[in-house]
Amino acid sequence: MRQKASHHNTLKQWSVDSWQRFPVKQQPEYTDPQHLAEVLKHLEAVRGCVHEEAISSLGERLCKIHKHGGLILHAGDCAERFQDATYEYSQAKVWHILCLASLLSHRSTKEVLCIGRLAGQFAKPRSQLYSLEDGLQLPTFRGDNIHEVSSSYQARQPDPDRLLLGYYLSQLMMTDVTAALCEWNDEQTPQREQTCVKIFGKDRASWSRYDLEQKRPSQLFCSHEGLLLSYEQCLTRLAHSTPPRHYNYSTHLLWLGERTRSLKEGHLEYFRGIHNPVAIKLSAQTQKNELKEYLKVLGNKPYPLTIITRLGKKHVASTLPWMIDMVKQARVPVLWSCDPMHGSTHRTTQGQKTRLITEMLEEFEESFLIHQKMKSTLSGIHLEITHQQVQECLKDHHELQNSSILKPYTSYCDPRLNFEQSFDFIDQLASYL
Ligand code: PEP
Ligand code: CO
Repeated sequence: MRQKASHHNTLKQWSVDSWQRFPVKQQPEYTDPQHLAEVLKHLEAVRGCVHEEAISSLGERLCKIHKHGGLILHAGDCAERFQDATYEYSQAKVWHILCLASLLSHRSTKEVLCIGRLAGQFAKPRSQLYSLEDGLQLPTFRGDNIHEVSSSYQARQPDPDRLLLGYYLSQLMMTDVTAALCEWNDEQTPQREQTCVKIFGKDRASWSRYDLEQKRPSQLFCSHEGLLLSYEQCLTRLAHSTPPRHYNYSTHLLWLGERTRSLKEGHLEYFRGIHNPVAIKLSAQTQKNELKEYLKVLGNKPYPLTIITRLGKKHVASTLPWMIDMVKQARVPVLWSCDPMHGSTHRTTQGQKTRLITEMLEEFEESFLIHQKMKSTLSGIHLEITHQQVQECLKDHHELQNSSILKPYTSYCDPRLNFEQSFDFIDQLASYL
């Protein structure tokens, strides 16, 4: 039985497993501890998915944005699927983000740093332990690296082997991301437009509007939520740096999610000691003493802390100003990003989760204006998107009231902007930036 630490303490020695002294939420309950132990032992011995130089290079880009300006586009699936780990699919994800960033860069005249929710974003925190599916009460789906998605009790038993599969697929996808980036960088504009036609099936003319030449981004970094701490621990190693530092080699950037950011729990403890760039997602439930503590615990890393606000339109005015004030007072280097999706989920009359694009734009605009008024800077936009022609997000309340069943709806978890919606969205918000 784990001993509960009474309070998070920045003076205490950190180690890759010091999080185990704390209670932790959202971890799968494996039934065979021996099997899990074997898998974790294997994972402790594998090579990392990313290089230390790339982690530092992302950190330096973040420092540069903090000092000199620029934008961050952080986007991808809510939950990636194992079945999508093909070269073609990864290439489409990468090029989709790069095309959006080109548009954003072109319209804002700023450099854009791309970070994908990509190559390892498999595990999901869930609010409900059980969900009703096909008339069955089943353990809620928590991601491909935990269990199978199909609706049976057997499929939903957590299987440690899926952690291994998740690791090897992340590794493969990282290779695909690198190849897709090379292709993007090697091609001349007309050829690049032609490749877009091939990948996304749009006509050539529609690509010229995105101006794939001007200030186009040439790099893309990967990220995922740092949720499954046993997995993250295995991929955390001491670098050959002076002073010696621990990096998580599973991805470039990790974020701490809204459901696991409690001060007295293990996730914050784990995040305290790693030297990758990190982000934290904050909802309107955030308490003042919590933000104060995050700034203390996560604010003294080599790179700025990214705060991703996901407040929901109705809470922006009452929450964002005190957060900005507190960050200013703490004098901690912070990059602000806005996630206008996770604080505003609706259900259709059919019970499907959806989000309204007009509300998202309002949340982003209001956040931007508050930052501007308070002489703070909103540098980032955090989105859930897909290049596929799904129907998961809707335009406005009118569409919500008149919606029938939304389909195709292929997201494993939250509703994403589809291909067209993502470009329209960036097009509209670029006018503020
Ligand atoms: C997410 O980013 O998919 C997510 C679960 O977000 P949050 O932690 O902000 O709810
Ligand atoms: Co999500």
